[in-house]
Amino acid sequence: MNDSHTVDLGARAYPVYFRTHAREELGARLAALASHHRLVVVTDTTVDALHGDALREALASEGVSPTFLVVPSGEGSKSVEQASRLWDAALSAGIDRRTPVVGFGGGVVGDLAGFVASTLLRGLPFVQVPTTLMAQVDASVGGKTALDHALGKNLIGTFHQPRFVFIDTGYLETLDERQRRSGLAEVLKHAAIAEPALLDAVTDPGVRAGDAVALRGIVERAVRIKAAIVVADERETGLRMVLNFGHTLGHALEAAAAGALTHGEAVSLGMVAALRLSERRAGLSPAASARVEDALAAVGLPTDWGRRLDAAARQHLGHDKKSRGDRLSVVLLQALGEPAVVPIPLSEYIETLTALAAENARKTP
Ligand SMILES: NC(=O)c1ccc[n+]([C@@H]2O[C@H](COP(=O)([O-])OP(=O)(O)OC[C@H]3O[C@@H](n4cnc5c(N)ncnc54)[C@H](O)[C@@H]3O)[C@@H](O)[C@H]2O)c1
Repeated sequence: MNDSHTVDLGARAYPVYFRTHAREELGARLAALASHHRLVVVTDTTVDALHGDALREALASEGVSPTFLVVPSGEGSKSVEQASRLWDAALSAGIDRRTPVVGFGGGVVGDLAGFVASTLLRGLPFVQVPTTLMAQVDASVGGKTALDHALGKNLIGTFHQPRFVFIDTGYLETLDERQRRSGLAEVLKHAAIAEPALLDAVTDPGVRAGDAVALRGIVERAVRIKAAIVVADERETGLRMVLNFGHTLGHALEAAAAGALTHGEAVSLGMVAALRLSERRAGLSPAASARVEDALAAVGLPTDWGRRLDAAARQHLGHDKKSRGDRLSVVLLQALGEPAVVPIPLSEYIETLTALAAENARKTP
């Protein structure tokens, strides 16, 4: 299989490769980009322990000496402190302007490594090698980098497109089931906003069982959807906002849960709330709404958003960076595959969700 897809951003166009167990090819592609046989690999402790040596060997057989910079696993590493530590280590290792930085890990590593690559020496070449389903279907494509701030997630960041993205679904074999489900939430998001037929593909038994080849099929479809949206609106001035479907409430729930929810679980909850709101405000049919909610439930994602809309979640909603003044830009669906960005005053948004949550609680006590 030799599939790839070009993210067609003109001078910044880049390929996304879709593979399963292709470590040697990855080594060769990284070697071709390495400057003076050097490159920096940013990874986390978990990915390093599971897959670091295989990458080191693949690079060594190509004559490349990588500098591995390892951060602790988890969202806490998207911090200024870790970025600063990586700046120090990369500069001490003697990088120059052509030294590539490789983000080898999940979305946390990708966001952090991308940010460091974009800021060191005014921008180093960057490569994404995503190892979680979440990162493969979403975070690794599109060039958004991010650090978190005390006032909210992803509030510090840049746009910095990678030179290429190497997606190897073989890495997903070591991912635990909860993390895999979390990634499926983003696939279902892509399906809901752009390709309803993908809803059924995600509930396929091979995909649910985590088969690396079955997963490659849906990863490829999800990436093509994301790439088309990114190409139409690289800097998120319009259309790209539809990728935030489920994320307004999702981010707030994730922040309020302080580690108890994965990103995908929070997005799943946010999407169900957005479906309810879409029925109320955008004419989405209850049958279409139920189709997405059923798919989320079928892969084991949480859908009980109403009881999680507590004071902490409401407070975090107020810090949403997509708000303009006191208005939020909320992504609703008019129909499956037909998203619309609707400005809603924050207070009205919270009131409507609170009322919908109360209605829901009455229906399912
Ligand atoms: N830049 C973007 O466009 C974008 C889009 C979506 C999400 N994100 C960001 O991505 C992050 C979430 O990504 P994530 O869910 O990948 O989280 P993550 O990077 O924290 O990875 C989840 C866990 O899986 C472990 N892991 C990674 N690869 C593994 C493997 N192959 N086998 C076993 N364990 C593995 C990690 O060490 C971590 O403990 C959030 O910070 C979110 O804001 C960014």
